[in-house]
Amino acid sequence: MSHVVTQACCADASCVFACPVNAIHPTPDEPDFGLAEMLYIDPKSCVDCGACVGACPVGAIVPDTKISARQQPFVDINALFHAEPRTYPIQAPVTPIIRKAPGPLHVAIVGSGPAALYAADELLKQSDVDVTVLDRLPTPHGLVRSGVAPDHTETKSIDRLFRQIEDQPGFHYLLNVDVGHDITHDELLEHCDAVVYATGASQDRRLGIPGEDLPGSETATEFVAWYNGHPDHAQHAFDLSGQRAVIIGNGNVALDAARILSVDPELLAGTDIADHALAALRTSAVREVVVVGRRGVAQAAFTLPELVGLLSHTDIDFVVEGADLDVQVTDRMTARKIEALREAVARPPTGGRRVVFRFGTSPVEMLGETRVSGVRVVRNELETVNDVVRARPTDEGATIDTALVLRSIGYRGAAVPGVPFDEHARIIPNVEGRVGPRTYAVGWIKRGPTGFIGTNKSCSQETIDHLIADFNAGLLRGWARRGSLRSAIEGGGVEVVDLRGWRAIDRAERQAGGARPRRKITDVDELLGVARPKRAPRRGLRKLVRV
Ligand SMILES: Cc1cc2nc3c(=O)[nH]c(=O)nc-3n(C[C@H](O)[C@H](O)[C@H](O)COP(=O)(O)OP(=O)(O)OC[C@H]3O[C@@H](n4cnc5c(N)ncnc54)[C@H](O)[C@@H]3O)c2cc1C
Ligand SMILES: NC(=O)c1ccc[n+]([C@@H]2O[C@H](COP(=O)([O-])OP(=O)(O)OC[C@H]3O[C@@H](n4cnc5c(N)ncnc54)[C@H](OP(=O)(O)O)[C@@H]3O)[C@@H](O)[C@H]2O)c1
Ligand code: SF4
Ligand code: SF4
Repeated sequence: MSHVVTQACCADASCVFACPVNAIHPTPDEPDFGLAEMLYIDPKSCVDCGACVGACPVGAIVPDTKISARQQPFVDINALFHAEPRTYPIQAPVTPIIRKAPGPLHVAIVGSGPAALYAADELLKQSDVDVTVLDRLPTPHGLVRSGVAPDHTETKSIDRLFRQIEDQPGFHYLLNVDVGHDITHDELLEHCDAVVYATGASQDRRLGIPGEDLPGSETATEFVAWYNGHPDHAQHAFDLSGQRAVIIGNGNVALDAARILSVDPELLAGTDIADHALAALRTSAVREVVVVGRRGVAQAAFTLPELVGLLSHTDIDFVVEGADLDVQVTDRMTARKIEALREAVARPPTGGRRVVFRFGTSPVEMLGETRVSGVRVVRNELETVNDVVRARPTDEGATIDTALVLRSIGYRGAAVPGVPFDEHARIIPNVEGRVGPRTYAVGWIKRGPTGFIGTNKSCSQETIDHLIADFNAGLLRGWARRGSLRSAIEGGGVEVVDLRGWRAIDRAERQAGGARPRRKITDVDELLGVARPKRAPRRGLRKLVRV
């Protein structure tokens, strides 16, 4: 018997420190931690004490006796990772705590996604610290609310951890505040001792091919934000009237989009998917989703847990084109991915919706006069340069007919006025999170748009360790004008949503959801209305009205 880490794992390593026998790897001090798609329990070392179960914020750890049919492949996946013996000390590493010197510290964190909340949590472990988290939206939690797919309900349960962080003394929200527009970086520095940027990477990368901006050529960024009810994208309309949709790129976002387009919409009806998206998916004519990867199957960007999650939908047919599924690879996890695809394509066809993984293919032009009618693609050959496998286009072309293309080729960070920005890497330039005087960065805007929710925990820890060291060195003391940040922002006419306001929105959405986790409000004015403090009716008012 053993415990097993399953698909929901977001790699934050909380379980590592709970395990008395150091059975969960890679640990944050092991070289492969940064590359890990999830963490894995060694079935030979696990003593089934269950301590890791309570430590996991997303309920990803299950005893193998209670595993569901969908989670079954993860028994093998955990064991496979540990098939080759690893050497490690019997005790898991202990993170050294850098203590803050005496004296108050007020930090503003810009952005309220996972990186921001992990940073706030680290700061609030110290005494006499105030943290004000600002976000341009009236709702917090970044991509956990507007990126993570609605059917990843376990992953979304990380909001329980976020609630605990928010409940700590010294935590404040100033939501509905666009930093760089509603308040400047310099103004934040006037009111706080330090500012931490956690603004993520909300923009999309571009293919740079003709026709890219034709209607019908959309980005996965918009599609994901649309089905998740992001207020900026709720009004968007996606043409689901064609039989085929094409997704360019084969990372985990592409897999999310492919799954949402191909599962039975009734499976989504019990989730927090935006109402407008559920209604559109219920009438969708899409029968086939083609996921186009420029390199080979061994270089596919999707992770094994996400692939296993998609393939577990037995009412979807899977097809692989442009790849040899008998290819021999040395990496065990990659070999397992290919095996999973091999098993899926060998299943008897159901005649239902299908997902086609097309490898070794690049788009060269979006076709169509007034809107997309197809994608012109070329076949690629693979070449290895300095140990990196690259796609080299050939002149063998083909056309894939479609009315909807979703470009899912990665996200890009956006500059905040007054804050240094690397236009090439699209991040805030930093050294281990230090940006410049009293300015820091965490999460995707610090290191680029890669990694899971939990990856941001160690990323934020690194930055906050430096921030506390700078405080101890006297670099951050005595700058904050306490209590004045909110009035400075409200003085500019901005309607701020604080923690109480967010909790009112949260309550209203959960109540409206009924059996669903929540029914999202997608309109900013409506969100602000719900967040606004409700005044008790004044005595005598009724009488006044009657008169
Ligand atoms: C589509 C998608 C699905 C994903 N699904 C999963 C998953 O299932 N499991 C998993 O482990 N990981 C998943 N990830 C990865 C995970 O979401 C990221 O690792 C994580 O959200 C990055 O955290 P962040 O805090 O850096 O950025 P974000 O979560 O993007 O948060 C940034 C915040 O900053 C705010 N902001 C930006 N600019 C400003 C400004 N000027 N002023 C004020 N606020 C501002 C934004 O509104 C946003 O709330 C997914 C990623 C994507 C894109
Ligand atoms: N459930 C989850 O845990 C989950 C869900 C969603 C996202 N995430 C994480 O969020 C991060 C971002 O995910 P993502 O899918 O946006 O990015 P990603 O994993 O970097 O994938 C980007 C894809 O776009 C392709 N691409 C890039 N430029 C291209 C071009 N010019 N032409 C054709 N193809 C191109 C890449 O191909 P190459 O590989 O050839 O470069 C790759 O297939 C990842 O770390 C991901 O794991 C996690
Ligand atoms: S059940 Fe106990 S021994 Fe097994 S991995 Fe979890 S904490 Fe470690
Ligand atoms: S989410 Fe964190 S605590 Fe849960 S299994 Fe993964 S690494 Fe461990």
